[in-house]
Amino acid sequence: MPESKQKASHPERTAPVHQPESSANAASLSVFAQTEQYAEAAEALAARLSIPFAGVAAQGTEVGLLLSEDGLSLCANGAFLRADLTAMLPRLTQRNLAAELLVRAAKVKGDRSTMTVVDATAGFGEDSLLLAAAGFHVKLFECNPYIAELLADALKRAAEHPVLSPVVARMELVKGDSIPALRAMTVPPDVVYLDPMFPGRTKSALVGKKFQLLHLLEAPCPNEEELFAAALAAHPRRIVIKRPVKGAYLAGRKPSFSLTGKAVRYDGIDPASFGGA
Ligand SMILES: C[S@@+](CC[C@H](N)C(=O)[O-])C[C@H]1O[C@@H](n2cnc3c(N)ncnc32)[C@H](O)[C@@H]1O
Repeated sequence: MPESKQKASHPERTAPVHQPESSANAASLSVFAQTEQYAEAAEALAARLSIPFAGVAAQGTEVGLLLSEDGLSLCANGAFLRADLTAMLPRLTQRNLAAELLVRAAKVKGDRSTMTVVDATAGFGEDSLLLAAAGFHVKLFECNPYIAELLADALKRAAEHPVLSPVVARMELVKGDSIPALRAMTVPPDVVYLDPMFPGRTKSALVGKKFQLLHLLEAPCPNEEELFAAALAAHPRRIVIKRPVKGAYLAGRKPSFSLTGKAVRYDGIDPASFGGA
């Protein structure tokens, strides 16, 4: 979820977002259906998430997940947030991909079409999409069940898009915690990617609509040290970590190199030369 993309992506409704009420959090979410047509699928989703199914949405002012003709959205106070991988299309040309700092940071020697990346903090899958478009096979882990559902929905829609379909065919979502999965990996991935840093790391992020809505779902990642240790335990050739430009090193470990852009920095660690693997 890059900083620059703070717009709620519901195509029709753009009502201003107010700060979510303090009482609204993931525990108080429900699932709504836009019309009767989506009620059955919405009810199944609610059962999967063990939260109430609240019927057909009347005003769009409810706080919860809305299943509609546009897919699955998180909504609160009349604003909508949907994971939308089509918004990434302009960044997926070969020329633009070659300039993406993340793609450059993940560049290890060899044939990329046979390489694997584990995105241990998938979020809305935007960074994973860049890596998959660059040729990597990407396994995405997302532990927040609501974000995982929003991402799964975005991937499903992308699979029907003529340009995105071959890219998302290289992306595999696992709904769950990456830490035990990384520790249990028997075949080392080429790259492990970590982006645990949102939300609330900057004031500007906090005022963004997207982040206000995500505050309903996400808690700041408390497990950075553990994530990093798990990434090392998977024995990748490289670990790439996304940080705020002036942010401290993840888990206090000095990287092998850093690529710094306007809004973010990518720290690369090659464990073989790091002495910590
Ligand atoms: C900053 S977001 C990642 C944004 C992502 N890079 C993108 O392009 O959309 C961090 C995400 O990592 C998830 N996360 C944090 N710790 C995790 C873990 N141990 N396993 C799986 N997901 C995790 C959070 O739920 C959150 O959705």
